[in-house]
Amino acid sequence: MEHLSTGGGAGRRSTCPSNAHGLDSLPGRSLPGWSLVGCRRGDKPGAAGVSAEYAPHMYSYPPLNLSVSTPRLELRGATDDLLEELVPVVRAGLADAEPPPFDDPMSLYEPDPDLRVQKWLQGIWRGRGSVTPDFWRLNLVVLIDGRPSGMQDIIGTSFDTYGTAVTFSWLSAELRGRGLGREMREAALHLCFEGFEAAEASSEAFLDNVGSNRVSQALGYERNGTTWATRRGQPEQMQRWRITREKWLPARRDDITMTGVDACRETFGQSP
Ligand SMILES: CC(C)(COP(=O)(O)OP(=O)(O)OC[C@H]1O[C@@H](n2cnc3c(N)ncnc32)[C@H](O)[C@@H]1OP(=O)(O)O)[C@@H](O)C(=O)NCCC(=O)NCCS
Repeated sequence: MEHLSTGGGAGRRSTCPSNAHGLDSLPGRSLPGWSLVGCRRGDKPGAAGVSAEYAPHMYSYPPLNLSVSTPRLELRGATDDLLEELVPVVRAGLADAEPPPFDDPMSLYEPDPDLRVQKWLQGIWRGRGSVTPDFWRLNLVVLIDGRPSGMQDIIGTSFDTYGTAVTFSWLSAELRGRGLGREMREAALHLCFEGFEAAEASSEAFLDNVGSNRVSQALGYERNGTTWATRRGQPEQMQRWRITREKWLPARRDDITMTGVDACRETFGQSP
């Protein structure tokens, strides 16, 4: 479902999912823990999928080390550094769309840019801090040509019991309509099915959200009824979509790579 709110509150439908602890235990640490954030490795700046500013390094909180790479983009654990790089996009209102795509509550609808950024970050931090085996939200930053350009989240509710995951995404407005939204979702599905061994993935979007609904349809999701949600206070119908593992398998891509999946699964309490 593309519609889960990213920061309006701590409730399950609206929870957006710090690397707040554990740096002391990193091997070879010679500087205060915070200085490790933003350490660079010798990756080639500007190369596809490699951020010029924040090359990957090991964080103590495993979901932050997760990476899924396709030939066109990379999804990477939403570290505070990457989120900071996304702030100008959120501040400029480029995560939003017309007609409004998100259900309430939604920090990205906040009209004041500073407050919008504040609520958006707080929503993500709240979500990180409330991860349990029963409910987790994985926030991934979308890197296009190494530049943070959007978010792709995956949400699991009683995942060990049902094996179902929900996706949510947004892409900076100037990059839409080039097939990147579809590529993001394909990367997310690869992580769900290949990485997390999900049985089913789902998505939801308001009926007039052409882009999101089209992505679901194009990737072979089946319609799964409609539901109601409020959008800026008004009731609206949403289309629900689902894709099973069996339906996804024939379309499985062999050009998507992942790192950090096992440690992330452990953090989410998934059975091996
Ligand atoms: C949803 C979103 C991530 C899709 O990303 P995108 O890069 O625009 O999508 P793509 O370019 O991959 O397009 C996928 C398909 O949708 C179609 N499409 C996308 N936007 C469209 C639009 N506004 N009108 C008509 N068709 C559109 C494309 O033509 C393509 O169809 P095809 O597969 O038949 O060629 C992006 O539009 C977005 O961030 N929207 C705002 C936030 C949002 O709606 N999030 C989802 C909340 S539920």
